[in-house]
Amino acid sequence: MKENVSFIGTGNMGGALIHAACRALDPAQVHITDYMVEKAQEMADELGCGCVSSNREAVLAGTYIFMCVKPQVMGGVLKEIAPVVKECLDRGEKKIIVSIAAGLQLAYIKEQLAQCGDALRVIRVMPNTPAAIGKGMIAVAADPEVEEEYVSGVMEILSDAGRVERLAENLMDQFTVVSGCSPAFVYMFIEALADGGVMTGLPRAQAMTYAAQTVMGAAAMVLETGKHPGELKDAVCSPAGSTIVGVAKLEEKGFRSAAIEAVKAGYEKNIDLGKVK
Ligand SMILES: NC(=O)c1ccc[n+]([C@@H]2O[C@H](COP(=O)([O-])OP(=O)(O)OC[C@H]3O[C@@H](n4cnc5c(N)ncnc54)[C@H](OP(=O)(O)O)[C@@H]3O)[C@@H](O)[C@H]2O)c1
Repeated sequence: MKENVSFIGTGNMGGALIHAACRALDPAQVHITDYMVEKAQEMADELGCGCVSSNREAVLAGTYIFMCVKPQVMGGVLKEIAPVVKECLDRGEKKIIVSIAAGLQLAYIKEQLAQCGDALRVIRVMPNTPAAIGKGMIAVAADPEVEEEYVSGVMEILSDAGRVERLAENLMDQFTVVSGCSPAFVYMFIEALADGGVMTGLPRAQAMTYAAQTVMGAAAMVLETGKHPGELKDAVCSPAGSTIVGVAKLEEKGFRSAAIEAVKAGYEKNIDLGKVK
């Protein structure tokens, strides 16, 4: 890809995507900025990419502009950059605004940038934090007027962040919980498995490694064999064995129901976040 890429916001998620973009592209094509410019400068020094000192300069520096600020401040930042985006579009430059904010619809992003006119292109991306080590699950949504080359461009920029798939926008809020939020749920499960290990006598560090490696292996079994998780679970449960006793205990304590309810609660929260104006 020849175009440059800018990132506004170098926090947890923005930082993970910046690392991935600097692996997928020449770091010289990447420019970053943050409210605290020193924070962006430190990351730029580490990665060899550019650092600019304002959101305006970030817009000027990139064809693709990744908006990596919290949903609550996104409206203000979009309104701040709208005049410079318009200036660039009026000069015939291409600008593709890429939002990674949970809950905010494409229509909302476009509304904040309404003064930019029809030439503006907006894409919505939902990543998760394992993107930091190239093992993320990332969805990309765009309206029909967005040319394929720009959607492919975004997918290329993120190609080193993990598995990147296109998704219809009306499923983004659901995806946001199942992939964006659920690393937190999975970490809780790993910690709980390790706690159980410690309770039964394993040293803490070993218990943590065994639990994490097992969760990673089980996830890979689902993806690589294509088998239903229920079938894979059945294959571990021998008659009258120790696994089925554990499975029964998880059912008794509402494990599956708790996971389903957690996804539903996160989804409802995303809908609320989407109402931010
Ligand atoms: N964390 C996740 O797992 C995750 C997953 C999927 C999507 N997301 C989305 O990613 C976005 C960023 O979340 P995050 O967790 O990375 O948040 P974060 O760590 O707080 O990062 C946001 C960054 O933006 C900076 N910032 C705030 N206002 C700014 C402004 N006006 N101009 C430039 N930079 C500004 C913040 O600087 P200060 O710290 O100085 O305020 C901070 O460095 C959110 O929209 C979230 O919905 C996050």
